[in-house]
Amino acid sequence: MAYEMIEVRTEAEKVGVITLNRPKALNALNDQLMNELGEALRAFDADEKIGCIILTGSEKAFAAGADIVAMAKYSFADAYKGDYITRNWEQIRDIRKPVIAAVAGYALGGGCELAMMCDFIIAADNAQFGQPEIKLGVIPGAGGTQRLPRAVGKSKAMDMALTGRMMDATEAERSGLVSRVVPLDKLMEETLGAAIMISGFSQIAVMAAKETVNRAFESSLADGLMFERRLFHALFATEDQKEGMDAFVNKRKAVFKHL
Ligand code: CAA
Repeated sequence: MAYEMIEVRTEAEKVGVITLNRPKALNALNDQLMNELGEALRAFDADEKIGCIILTGSEKAFAAGADIVAMAKYSFADAYKGDYITRNWEQIRDIRKPVIAAVAGYALGGGCELAMMCDFIIAADNAQFGQPEIKLGVIPGAGGTQRLPRAVGKSKAMDMALTGRMMDATEAERSGLVSRVVPLDKLMEETLGAAIMISGFSQIAVMAAKETVNRAFESSLADGLMFERRLFHALFATEDQKEGMDAFVNKRKAVFKHL
């Protein structure tokens, strides 16, 4: 498929990189962009050679939010009946391989929500996160009121949602919103390093780890622990478990077959 609002490439033959590419609107997220993003994510997810996916934007903006120009015209009836604006966003949750957000510049509103839908966020030191929807007379509409408190706790999430203020990269790391902060010129190098490392592990174990950590947000502790134990035991049916443990015991490097 030919894309107009994103760019797609493969790195090191095993990492899929998707770059949001609507520079004139600071990567504002509209229906077409989100459809293209869904297509590209699904294509990488289905590609046997790909072990990890990176989602990134430009140095100035990961994404400045949902497209305000496109949504300004909607009435409640339009938006509700058509389930407009964010209806095709949650498709990212169906992706089973890890998706890392490499965030530089603005990640605001839907941009912050999109980054939070990824499995983890690596931020450049110029990154700015925020949920400024309150300034537009609305509230976050793509998970911001739910994922932000889970990431940074109630007090900071309320502060962000009620004042619309931005959080810089240092505060975002301190609060647990992002996993690492790196200099802007090292963002892709560092993120690619993580993605290549993940791609070298057993793909089955990687998918199981992702599925299990995500379970922590959807279940009680007892259910989550049971889910974890069942998957942990199930991995002993894989060739990669035999290889990984044999390699450790025999002091050699494991070569996973992803089987
Ligand atoms: N939607 C549409 N266009 C946007 C946009 C958005 N979210 N954000 C920026 N743009 C456009 C601007 O309109 C401008 O276009 P023109 O050159 O045609 O005028 C261009 O991108 C550059 O923007 P600025 O001139 O404003 O750039 P700046 O450097 O002065 O400011 C900014 C950058 C602080 C990010 C500012 O653009 C801004 O505040 N953007 C809006 C952020 C926002 O409110 N996001 C939340 C959207 S609502 C949402 O996301 C709902 C949801 O939860 C799903």
